[in-house]
Amino acid sequence: METDRIILRPWRDSDAETLFKYASDPDVGPRAGWPPHKSVEESLNIICTVFSAETMWAVEWKETGEAIGCVGYLPASASNLKIADDQCEVGYWIARPYWGKGICTEALQLVIDYCFHEKGFSVFWGDYFPENPASGRVMEKCGFVDTGEEVLCPTLEVGADRPVKVMRLELRK
Ligand SMILES: CC(C)(COP(=O)(O)OP(=O)(O)OC[C@H]1O[C@@H](n2cnc3c(N)ncnc32)[C@H](O)[C@@H]1OP(=O)(O)O)[C@@H](O)C(=O)NCCC(=O)NCCS
Repeated sequence: METDRIILRPWRDSDAETLFKYASDPDVGPRAGWPPHKSVEESLNIICTVFSAETMWAVEWKETGEAIGCVGYLPASASNLKIADDQCEVGYWIARPYWGKGICTEALQLVIDYCFHEKGFSVFWGDYFPENPASGRVMEKCGFVDTGEEVLCPTLEVGADRPVKVMRLELRK
């Protein structure tokens, strides 16, 4: 999956140093519910475990070949939300130096198109902390609407005690 400036591709062990550079930023992980990475070894371990799922992609910046973020989806069985089996939850983050360039919106749109056309999902969910409106805006730009619901996500490593706003997108088959 690609656009003029990004490619979504599997994470590689060789991305560990770059991942640590960007995921150790305290302004990134905690906004998405996980703690900043503390070492290259931890980043490598995340690549080998969490990021090895076939539903997760590195966002590669074509110009440099660097992995500058992560985008993907969780099937119902792994979702933070109570959703139907034929629905999924999206997730993403982008390295701070690349914020505000429309990259996350572009990456999320690629995942939505893939999930709709290749996986048959037509209902998508997403959630974000109210104090992180940029994330809500990314979903809005991809067509999600605010459900008005706020729920706790007890499985988050950071922020499990703070409610998230729930967004929903439904595409016509
Ligand atoms: C949220 C995040 C993924 C956005 O990535 P990005 O590549 O900068 O996103 P985009 O450029 O595609 O879109 C961001 C939008 O949010 C808007 N935005 C930024 N800060 C904002 C704020 N404080 N309030 C409202 N909107 C804001 C931008 O203006 C832009 O909207 P626009 O195109 O209408 O101007 C990135 O900031 C990030 O990784 N944050 C930390 C991790 C995270 O929050 N992940 C999501 C967890 S739910």
